[in-house]
Amino acid sequence: MTDKYAVIGHPISHSKSPLIHQAFAAQTQQDISYQAIEAPLDGFKATIERLVQEGYKGCNVTVPFKFEAFQLCKQLTGRAQAAQAVNTLFFRDGQVLGDNTDGAGLLTDIEQNLQCKLLFKKVLLMGAGGAAHGVIWQLFNAGATITVANRTLEKAQQMVSEFAPYGTVCASSYAALAGKKFDVVVNATSSSLTDELPPLPDGLFAPNALAYDMMYGKQTPFLKFAAAQGAARLADGLGMLVEQAAEAFCKWREVRPDTAPVIASLRP
Ligand code: ATR
Repeated sequence: MTDKYAVIGHPISHSKSPLIHQAFAAQTQQDISYQAIEAPLDGFKATIERLVQEGYKGCNVTVPFKFEAFQLCKQLTGRAQAAQAVNTLFFRDGQVLGDNTDGAGLLTDIEQNLQCKLLFKKVLLMGAGGAAHGVIWQLFNAGATITVANRTLEKAQQMVSEFAPYGTVCASSYAALAGKKFDVVVNATSSSLTDELPPLPDGLFAPNALAYDMMYGKQTPFLKFAAAQGAARLADGLGMLVEQAAEAFCKWREVRPDTAPVIASLRP
């Protein structure tokens, strides 16, 4: 029997997740269906209840429901707890378990696909909203030395406070970054959506630095800035999108898909 999965968001028509999961399923000969479902803004919980009723095995959750999904779950993985957001749900015997594969997706893209190992690397994470929360635990876990910069400094301070006792994470304003250098700079702000650039000082990129924008699909102001500032490598978030999907697929189906051909097929 075909096992049913979905991605839930609002809006959802732009989502590449159905395409990605269908490609994974074809590649690994898994008998699944995967559809995009737009839940009303006040109807996320009801949508989940319906999917559970209808025998779905799980779903992905995207904007703007990741925090609501986190609040809804009585069972969470450690990385979902750290992220305070859920992007992957598992349904079994009426139970709902929440996970977050965004950080793993970013890490796999950076360390495996882009071959940039993070151990002892100086990483600048820009942003302290949902997207940054989703990935900081995994960056920390990889042994990176992390600086979180945010327009609203208190939000960055709050986000790093749980890691601060371990000494490798600190919060910063953008202005206070002047004179510092980083091996990896990750844009986890929503600035690219509005074609804006966080107020970064010049000279941030260490030799051979990677500039990574979690947004995909267009040349963002951050990636243009990074190129002009001499960053050695530039990457958008397409690899992360496919890798977070692969991590969810692997947990659902117990088989790991090959992401390289799927990433290549989505590149314009
Ligand atoms: P998301 O879920 O995409 O992370 P969010 O939770 O609303 O969205 O967080 C948006 C993040 O982008 C915040 O860190 C925000 O900074 P503030 O906390 O100071 O608001 C950051 N952000 C948005 N636009 C930005 C811009 N033009 N320059 C710098 N930071 C920006």
